[in-house]
Amino acid sequence: MTFRQTHLLGIESLAPDEITALLDLADSYVDMNRSSTKHSDTLRGLTQINMFFENSTRTQASFEIAGKRLGADVMNMAMQTSSVKKGETLIDTALTLNAMHPDLLVVRHPQSGAVNLLAEKVNCAVLNAGDGRHEHPTQALLDALTIRRAKGRLHRLTVAICGDIAHSRVARSNILLLGKMESRIRLIGPPTLMPAGIDEFGAEVYDDMEKGLNGADVVMMLRLQKERMDGGFIPSEREYYHRFGLDAEKLGHAKPNAIVMHPGPMNRGVEIDGTIADDINRSVIQDQVEMGVAVRMAAMDLLTRRLRPQTEKIPA
Ligand code: NCD
Repeated sequence: MTFRQTHLLGIESLAPDEITALLDLADSYVDMNRSSTKHSDTLRGLTQINMFFENSTRTQASFEIAGKRLGADVMNMAMQTSSVKKGETLIDTALTLNAMHPDLLVVRHPQSGAVNLLAEKVNCAVLNAGDGRHEHPTQALLDALTIRRAKGRLHRLTVAICGDIAHSRVARSNILLLGKMESRIRLIGPPTLMPAGIDEFGAEVYDDMEKGLNGADVVMMLRLQKERMDGGFIPSEREYYHRFGLDAEKLGHAKPNAIVMHPGPMNRGVEIDGTIADDINRSVIQDQVEMGVAVRMAAMDLLTRRLRPQTEKIPA
């Protein structure tokens, strides 16, 4: 048993053996999810509250399904983005919920660092479902599981992460995870969409898709996150697609068996050509969604083991 975390706030605090343990367990949940039963009592008697202060389709649905498949009592709080006032409001909400004795709190928040702050105030396990442009650990873990199943390993791969790196918590968590697992990371995008301090990321940086994709094993596209942009970061979407949108011609520079990923939601014709996104020989976008449920089941299972007396009977 190699998972030592109380919360899952980011990839930064995870050791490689913990990542591997979580992915190994997630593999077994993929099998369960593909079987006709799809249900266990692992989290029976435990309460999971999902608090999404920011819009979400797949992440929220995925956490809800994951909790229900493991037998938890799952509650979704309807959080209106407009009512979020940071600081006091968030802490008050956390304290109120804490008084109801949840075992798992799943939180998405538009402010970077907000989920870490909340975790300090509550007595239960907190899972970060995305905080601002900081981290989105379960996304990086589901991406890692998808890559590991497609390529058979996570080390010594060339992974190109393309597009709006500056505003992306998905990119940040993936860079941290793939770096820990010893893959080579390339970041491709216009200089205006590269974060400050990019040199500290330990990645190669390109502003040209042809050069950046050359020989890549994995091509990970990112959405243009306009909700986090407060100025003109790109000349026009058309121009952006021309230079950085993934089409067949640009993909031709990656390895012939390179896989194409996207965390969703996708802007077809902006960062990716719809035909490539739907090409089942190249795109693993739907696999990412499938792996998301399994990874979240594994994360919630591992974080609650100390609460469950039957722990020794559970594999991994
Ligand atoms: C990502 C997110 O919310 O950070 N989406 C997701 O969780 N599937 C990426 C994005 O919004 O572009």
